[in-house]
Amino acid sequence: MKNIVITGGSGFIGSNLVRYMVNKYKNYNIINVDCLTYAGNLLNLVDMEDKTNYFFENIDIADFQSLKHVFEKYQIDGIIHLAAESHVDRSIQNPVKFVQTNVIGTFNLLELVREHHDNGFNCRFHHVSTDEVYGSLGNEGYFTETTRYSPNSPYSASKASSDHFVRAYVKTYGLNAVITNCSNNYGPYQFPEKLIPLTISNIISGKNISIYGDGLNIRDWLYVIDHCEAIDTVFHKSDKGETYNIGGHNEWTNIDIVNFICETMDDKLNLFPDRSSKNLIQFVNDRAGHDRRYAIDASKIQNELGWIPKWTFEDGIETTIDWYLSNNDWIKNITSSEYLQYNEKITKINWRS
Ligand SMILES: NC(=O)c1ccc[n+]([C@@H]2O[C@H](COP(=O)([O-])OP(=O)(O)OC[C@H]3O[C@@H](n4cnc5c(N)ncnc54)[C@H](O)[C@@H]3O)[C@@H](O)[C@H]2O)c1
Repeated sequence: MKNIVITGGSGFIGSNLVRYMVNKYKNYNIINVDCLTYAGNLLNLVDMEDKTNYFFENIDIADFQSLKHVFEKYQIDGIIHLAAESHVDRSIQNPVKFVQTNVIGTFNLLELVREHHDNGFNCRFHHVSTDEVYGSLGNEGYFTETTRYSPNSPYSASKASSDHFVRAYVKTYGLNAVITNCSNNYGPYQFPEKLIPLTISNIISGKNISIYGDGLNIRDWLYVIDHCEAIDTVFHKSDKGETYNIGGHNEWTNIDIVNFICETMDDKLNLFPDRSSKNLIQFVNDRAGHDRRYAIDASKIQNELGWIPKWTFEDGIETTIDWYLSNNDWIKNITSSEYLQYNEKITKINWRS
């Protein structure tokens, strides 16, 4: 058995990735290292609890000594690092958490991998990052792996900083590390504060849907399972020191996405024109430093490693809406205090230690 750590495994992308890896690789022990912030939800992984190759460690990656304990407990063969503070609005309100987790947390992991490396162990370190490190595009062009970093929010600045540390540890210490920079993800288990799940959950509960500025900001959207497959591909096939952009070839303005979700949900919920969920849309003042357009050139990962996205946006959105409609309790739980109590209860159980 190989021991693979996934940090942030209780979050949106992390829980999808844990499920994907636990089911696909029976010869891997998957160790989820997560300190369960508001975005980390053990309800996301209830179906993993009885799997013999799944382990959970309730650890804050900003706490070096606790993290070291994981390296002492398991002989670690690889790390896929997703743990992060990930919401731009929260980074504008309280940037310090972003430095602690995204910068110091990544630094702590790199230091422990360096120690491991110096002791003669090979440990692949896969750093999961974002296209937001590149800043904002105009109407033309795409981000490539050589685009200059130009982060505009405290979130993207913290991710850019962590990317630079990873790069430096490859160059300076020879660490076996790789970086992926991905566009916006959507899919099941995403906390309803980001555009797509927030729009869906507000339609379900009849609340207003707020759109920043003129709604014409453009993002490239990728279904989360496509991202998991891309991570799997890079983690296993990439040469050390490489970086890959991951994207869905799928640009949408925010207002078009919201309208598309409204139309799909109006159909599903039989909302007739006068009761259309589009009536919930309201425009609000723009976010400070709001990037206008992100678009990814993902030809490197396609040409070198053979990865392409499989999900169409239409299928992905429909599956996502269906998931939220049939998991209304999940939305209620994670937005209430109940799930905090569940997290607290479950973390008192020291799983298979
Ligand atoms: N969501 C996207 O669209 C997107 C796109 C590209 C890249 N990414 C990157 O992918 C990663 C995962 O994103 P997500 O959307 O799943 O995030 P998320 O906010 O849903 O989940 C983050 C997870 O990290 C955990 N965490 C936070 N701080 C921690 C700490 N100090 N110690 C241990 N665990 C901690 C949280 O409890 C949570 O489980 C992030 O690194 C993010 O930058 C996300």
